[in-house]
Amino acid sequence: MSQRRLFVTTALPYANGNFHIGHIMEYIQADIWVRFQRMQGHAVNFVGADDAHGAPIMIAAEKAGKTPQQFVADIAAGRKPYLDGFHISFDNWHSTDAPENHQLAQQIYRDLKKAGLISTKTIEQFFDIEKNMFLPDRFIKGQCPKCGAKDQYGDNCEVCGAVYAPTDLINPFSALSGVTPVLKSSEHFFFKLSDPRCVDFLETWTQDGRLQPEVANKVKEWFSVRENADGTKSEGLGDWDISRDAPYFGIEIPDAPGKYFYVWLDAPVGYLASLKNLLDKRGEDYEAYMADPRLEQYHFIGKDIVTFHTLFWPAMLKFSGRKTPDKVFVHGFLTVNNGEKMSKSRGTGLDPLKYLSLGMNPEWLRYYLAAKLNAKNEDIDFNADDFMARVNSDLVGKYINIASRAAGFIAKRFAGRLGDISADGNALLSVLRAQSDTITQLYEFREFAKALREVMLLADRVNAYVDQNKPWELAKQAAMDGRLHDVCTVCIEAFRLLTIYLKPVLPALGAEVEHFLKTGPLCFADADADASLGSGHAIGDYKHLLQRVDIKQLDALFEAPAQEAPAPTAIEKIAPGGEDIAPAITIDDFSKIDLRIAKIVNCEAVEGSTKLLRLTLDVGEGALRNVFSGIASSYKPEDLIGKHTVMVANLAPRKMKFGISEGMVLAASHGDEKAQPGIYVLESGAGATPGMRVR
Ligand code: 2FM
Ligand code: ZN
Repeated sequence: MSQRRLFVTTALPYANGNFHIGHIMEYIQADIWVRFQRMQGHAVNFVGADDAHGAPIMIAAEKAGKTPQQFVADIAAGRKPYLDGFHISFDNWHSTDAPENHQLAQQIYRDLKKAGLISTKTIEQFFDIEKNMFLPDRFIKGQCPKCGAKDQYGDNCEVCGAVYAPTDLINPFSALSGVTPVLKSSEHFFFKLSDPRCVDFLETWTQDGRLQPEVANKVKEWFSVRENADGTKSEGLGDWDISRDAPYFGIEIPDAPGKYFYVWLDAPVGYLASLKNLLDKRGEDYEAYMADPRLEQYHFIGKDIVTFHTLFWPAMLKFSGRKTPDKVFVHGFLTVNNGEKMSKSRGTGLDPLKYLSLGMNPEWLRYYLAAKLNAKNEDIDFNADDFMARVNSDLVGKYINIASRAAGFIAKRFAGRLGDISADGNALLSVLRAQSDTITQLYEFREFAKALREVMLLADRVNAYVDQNKPWELAKQAAMDGRLHDVCTVCIEAFRLLTIYLKPVLPALGAEVEHFLKTGPLCFADADADASLGSGHAIGDYKHLLQRVDIKQLDALFEAPAQEAPAPTAIEKIAPGGEDIAPAITIDDFSKIDLRIAKIVNCEAVEGSTKLLRLTLDVGEGALRNVFSGIASSYKPEDLIGKHTVMVANLAPRKMKFGISEGMVLAASHGDEKAQPGIYVLESGAGATPGMRVR
């Protein structure tokens, strides 16, 4: 097989926060694929970068009292522990604010302009006269024009899902200064995606098999002019607004003073900039690399940024005379423990650095995620119990177990040397080797879950062979020394083969096994029969290769962050209701929480959740609120309808698996839910009406 040349990227994360588990999942998915390709002998350049530009980062930097450059540099400085910690093997990590990106983005723009694909148009937008800047949609808030919900963003309503222009909002205000924005016109630059050349190109490019079928189907809808089911019209491809006015943290548009590229124009160019930076450092020629007809270009991305990667980005590349991506691999989102709000003792979310700091093995997570990932754009769920079962039963119980059952005998009884293998052992090993092609194909097509299932089925066969041959009994019979040597040698060779198949997922463990077996770096070609270790090969001493997950680690991982301890007192503290009274707050702290009387006008079970009920609340605002509450264990929906309760009315809306929750209902429970189960919703005194403030 000839050596392939692959250029692989993951989406570039905004440099305004640390990585969350969703980023890590994407990096692990891409890293497994990249490591697999390298183990096939292919030449891969795998790069990432920080997505540095845009209004939100500029504003966050200002709030933090830093220049945007300093702000993004500080974020970038925190990346390494995550990437190293989870064994993500990027060849380079760069920034979209680097000089390479400024040059490349400006050059691409010039090329598009030369192709006649840039136009200008004067548009009216909201302007904040206090901040002296145009407001991005996300920084304009107001009442939803459709359902009347308050405090909605300028682009869509999180309550009813309506999509609109910021100018449609009722009583709009600037989220930066609070002032009412004024309309002001300014000239904007557009990439003419509606040009027939772009439309024709994209209609073919998106439907020629390079996208996953479900993604290609979705993209197809964006081309057609038609009436949607909800009465809105789809206009087909529209021109794309690629400019923003100063002040903006971004790249200047050539020959257009005070105008900057919209962040999404220069963000994907960052893929090329990071690659160029890598090749420059190595003294390789970027232009020649990109011009090589053998080069394959792949982007791993999440399902929320498909438009940018399947329309704008390929069109930008194509019409600036550049190579377009060979494939865009779209993955779904990761939810944690069913996406439900977790009980107090389990906290919320899965913090990657906390995971590492608890001494949890990064390869457990790599294995678990791989065991759930496929080639489809589907969401996957991290489930703590499932995680423990898969790591402990499959990874340790089936795979590691093979080595631990055989290695001791080889060391003690045969001076660490492997022996000859008889016919039945060779038959077993042939079965293992015969699966190499299947497993290779599954990795190639990102069917990681299926690949690992195949590997575990093979591990089952090896364990069955061990159970049949019972080396521990053979060891007691002097005359069976030869057979013991044979059986244990088969186990070690089988373990080596399984290690090859698992190494894209478990690179650090793979390296330890290589050390233990005294072999060089294993690649897929080492699964051939003639690459086996052979009789007489000396292996090293076995030390246990992988610990099991301890439930205490998972409990600690999901434990809510500890509250600051209250001042110690001389008297022994009593924890009323099973938990200590929280540290003191001021009356000002308390007044930040807006508690209101809410009437429960409807209450329903939530399909797919045993914990949640969906409440429809009237808080006297003229619009109803949707709130999810983890009280299903104590109430039937009909028990609650008509009751008046107390809710936190100014809690920021939270996206949950089942929808948006727009507040929180107050309920009492014991600190130790296991010891004293039950949760009790607060009810108001008679006479209180919806919307009254509770203070
Ligand atoms: O959605 C995001 O997080 C973007 N920062 C992704 C950019 S991907 C690429 F275009 F840079
Ligand atoms: Zn609405």
